Amino acid sequence: MIVCANFKANKTRQETQAYMAVVESFVSANDISDTIIVFPPYTALEHLSRNVLIGVQNAYPVRNGAYTGEIALEQLEEFDIKTILIGHSERRHIIGETQEQIAAKFRFFAEQGFVIVYCVGEPLAIREAGHDALMDYIDKQFDGIDLNYSDLIIAYEPVWAIGTGLTPSNSDIEQVHRELRSKTAAPLLYGGSVKTDNAGEIMALENVDGVLVGSAALSANDFCEMIVQASELNG
Ligand code: PGA
Repeated sequence: MIVCANFKANKTRQETQAYMAVVESFVSANDISDTIIVFPPYTALEHLSRNVLIGVQNAYPVRNGAYTGEIALEQLEEFDIKTILIGHSERRHIIGETQEQIAAKFRFFAEQGFVIVYCVGEPLAIREAGHDALMDYIDKQFDGIDLNYSDLIIAYEPVWAIGTGLTPSNSDIEQVHRELRSKTAAPLLYGGSVKTDNAGEIMALENVDGVLVGSAALSANDFCEMIVQASELNG
């Protein structure tokens, strides 16, 4: 299983250090073999961990240069960051990233050999328009994306489920994941209002290889609880 925490614009450097201390010692003490990835804010980056992968929530697809307000490959290399989240719905819908920009970012970081957690997901109106409309929408989010990239992880995150406490039914998750599985061999995560109460159940679904968790992962103890639920599914 793959269990990811996306901090978004939450936590200071100090809070992140305290969080990582809890998660890191939990992972070693419990011999966790699952892949654990934490995406802290840039300001908390440092050589944070040995047994948890640290990724960035975004970066600009260049080595360095005149891109005010962005950070790029050179700044990531300083911290040995080789994992990136691309296509998150908040970047698509709030920041306004286009599919073209997202695909350019994907190409650049794939060329650099990054582990890419690539997010797709539909807004509510599309979900309400039915399954075909939903899959057409998601297909467009794969424009310019190499679904055979070897270090690809896909996260299916319905926009209306992110941070809302709403989740699709288990069979709706399975239906979308089954279609995603027919398109790619990449591990498939579900994200959107995952919490300790539902993480185990969601990870047990067919073609679900892990979860990407926002708000509920801000508590290190809750995140560890979800890691346990993942590890219990291994045996
Ligand atoms: P949420 O966010 O768990 O708070 O719904 C998930 C995400 O945005 O990755």
